[in-house]
Amino acid sequence: MKHLEVELGERSYRIHIGAGSLQQPAIWRPALRGRHVLVLSNTVVAPLYLDAVLSGLTDLTHSSLILEDGEQHKSFENVARVFDALADLGASRDATLVTLGGGVIGDLGGFAAACWMRGIDFVQMPTTLLAMVDSSVGGKTGVNLPAGKNLVGAFHQPRAVIIDTATLASLPRREYLAGLAEVIKYGAIGDATFLDWLGQHADALLNRDARALDEAIAFSCRYKAGVVVRDERELGERALLNFGHTFGHAIEAEAGYGQVLHGEAVAIGMILAARLSASLGLAPPADADHLQALLSRLDLPTRLPPGLDAQRLLDRMVLDKKSLSGKLRLILWRGIGKAEIAGGIDDSAILASLQDAAMQSI
Ligand SMILES: NC(=O)c1ccc[n+]([C@@H]2O[C@H](COP(=O)([O-])OP(=O)(O)OC[C@H]3O[C@@H](n4cnc5c(N)ncnc54)[C@H](O)[C@@H]3O)[C@@H](O)[C@H]2O)c1
Repeated sequence: MKHLEVELGERSYRIHIGAGSLQQPAIWRPALRGRHVLVLSNTVVAPLYLDAVLSGLTDLTHSSLILEDGEQHKSFENVARVFDALADLGASRDATLVTLGGGVIGDLGGFAAACWMRGIDFVQMPTTLLAMVDSSVGGKTGVNLPAGKNLVGAFHQPRAVIIDTATLASLPRREYLAGLAEVIKYGAIGDATFLDWLGQHADALLNRDARALDEAIAFSCRYKAGVVVRDERELGERALLNFGHTFGHAIEAEAGYGQVLHGEAVAIGMILAARLSASLGLAPPADADHLQALLSRLDLPTRLPPGLDAQRLLDRMVLDKKSLSGKLRLILWRGIGKAEIAGGIDDSAILASLQDAAMQSI
């Protein structure tokens, strides 16, 4: 079992990583302060892992709420259902909400916890690789609106993150690989040695080898935690974690939500960002080749899906940026391990890069 500390003063918390941790309440019970616990999960994850969690709560007043599966259920309506469940439980200020599932459950539950009585504890029990290495750490919570993804939310750090790597055994292969894209991202933006390590352990990772996974997850959590500690509210460095994401969001939206998984879109987006950086003379083209080879080795897509229009993708990207700051700001890189925030990039350079990529799409 590995234990990492996210140092945020009185909001500090621990990340526990290891196979079977859900079944060991001794690991996570200390994070529960009061007598009331609500476990939030979904219809896919609950039949697999909810009993293990509930069996560690028998001496407390507890209940569970099972939501429908899917991004479309990361909604305001379901936050209201969590509030109702907390009210039925008689949850007071010292209650804890436990989120058992992927990023959808973690984001939604975390947001409900941030709101209930102006903020109660929540404990993340992520069960997808993406949630383990990314969404469960750092305190970004929220839900979608018809007007867009993650439009309503709050910064609310969990009280603890319990990563049971054994739960990855049941994760569909495509979801698992999509999570690996975020792992690769950490190496791409900040650590060339880790990227090499990923290349050396590609087979082990594809086979979900426990030891390799533990290492990769621990590195990713440590990396993300370090960034969050230095820049909790994304005023600077935390934005680097969005490497590949502006391209990726545009691809997800243009392809139609659900067609390309978020992690797959990020994989393609990282290559687009790397190629754009190379075309601007910021980074060696060989580094983009190297990243592309690693992503392919891990069975991730690196080319635009066929039929996407470069201009429409650019329009989406500009919209994405405008909704943030009104001006185009991208995460580019100076080569492997060296990402940077780049402002003032000419739209025409981005368009040319997208057109190149569209020509190569298969
Ligand atoms: N808060 C953040 O910092 C942050 C960062 C990245 C992504 N996100 C959010 O995370 C969400 C995506 O998360 P996700 O990729 O985990 O998606 P998800 O929660 O929808 O899970 C993916 C699928 O895997 C299923 N599943 C989960 N665990 C399983 C298991 N162990 N075995 C079998 N099936 C399992 C789920 O039911 C779902 O069908 C998005 O809403 C995104 O906005 C948040």
